[in-house]
Amino acid sequence: MLQKRWPGRAWVNSVCTLAQKRLATHPHGDLPRWLCTLQQLPAVSLEANLDRGTPALGGRVEDLKALRETLMELHPWRKGPLCLGGLRIETEWRSDWKWERVETYIGLAVHRVLDIGCGNGYFGLRMLGAGAALVVGIDPTLLFVMQWLACRHFSGDIANYVLPLAIEDLPADPVAFDTVFSMGVLYHRKDPSHHLKRIHSLLRPGGTMVLETLVLPHERRQDLLVPQERYARMRNVWAVPGTDRLVNWARNAGLKDIELADVTPTTIKEQRSTSWMQFESLAEALDPADQEKTQEGYPAPIRALLIATR
Ligand SMILES: C[S@@+](CC[C@H](N)C(=O)[O-])C[C@H]1O[C@@H](n2cnc3c(N)ncnc32)[C@H](O)[C@@H]1O
Repeated sequence: MLQKRWPGRAWVNSVCTLAQKRLATHPHGDLPRWLCTLQQLPAVSLEANLDRGTPALGGRVEDLKALRETLMELHPWRKGPLCLGGLRIETEWRSDWKWERVETYIGLAVHRVLDIGCGNGYFGLRMLGAGAALVVGIDPTLLFVMQWLACRHFSGDIANYVLPLAIEDLPADPVAFDTVFSMGVLYHRKDPSHHLKRIHSLLRPGGTMVLETLVLPHERRQDLLVPQERYARMRNVWAVPGTDRLVNWARNAGLKDIELADVTPTTIKEQRSTSWMQFESLAEALDPADQEKTQEGYPAPIRALLIATR
């Protein structure tokens, strides 16, 4: 139970109440089917081996074919890889590669962490593996919350939570996280400056922000791209800044010690279709004649990692 892991915090009680309400009243048409899927998961011994790129949850299940069929009801699996009950889930993203880029720059020992836009909680597992005491993840996409519940079936109650909430749902009560992650979310926000200010307010003084987001190539570091309709086939990308502009946004939000730790182009090896994510992926979003451009003619995805403190 999340409340027991951080007792006496009004903020924690509020988000738990909000999350329960959201689940109980969510209108998503697939919710009954997903809940039924979770009930079909086989009995298993609870285990959580988190010291590896592919976190391994649960003891080995006998009928892996049946387990695969059940877990495929929660398709598409985007963040991983994961190993549940001895079954490897080859996800759309090699999220372990992103984690390798991030973990060199941060220490999480006994930290309380907030992960905004946490997906199915894959990175939360890696954070616990790196010594975090508690990870509160939030993500408004209900399917990812269902995938997290599936993971919990195998791991039991470990200190990695995924609540069906968006950042704008979070209460204004004071809370002081040691580290706040926002990876792959900023470009989905219509007001990125407000997003950064909100991160600032969720940190304790001296706490660390880990921001990962799309940026423009180095030669366009002061620019701002506002896609006309879609960016790499995504409808909900509002703006992609150059790195100088991104650093300025962070500074204006009150963050300090801002370090542009890493800039890496996303490749079709890092983000790809697999048997666990059978829709189209990055390869189909790029210009077939020029892999440095998206289908819409914009620069192909490059991701930057910004570390800063409050
Ligand atoms: C591109 S994915 C990134 C997932 C993961 N953090 C990563 O880096 O791989 C963006 C995630 O942000 C979530 N998201 C979108 N809008 C959000 C919001 N307003 N607040 C919190 N999460 C949001 C989406 O549901 C999605 O899971």
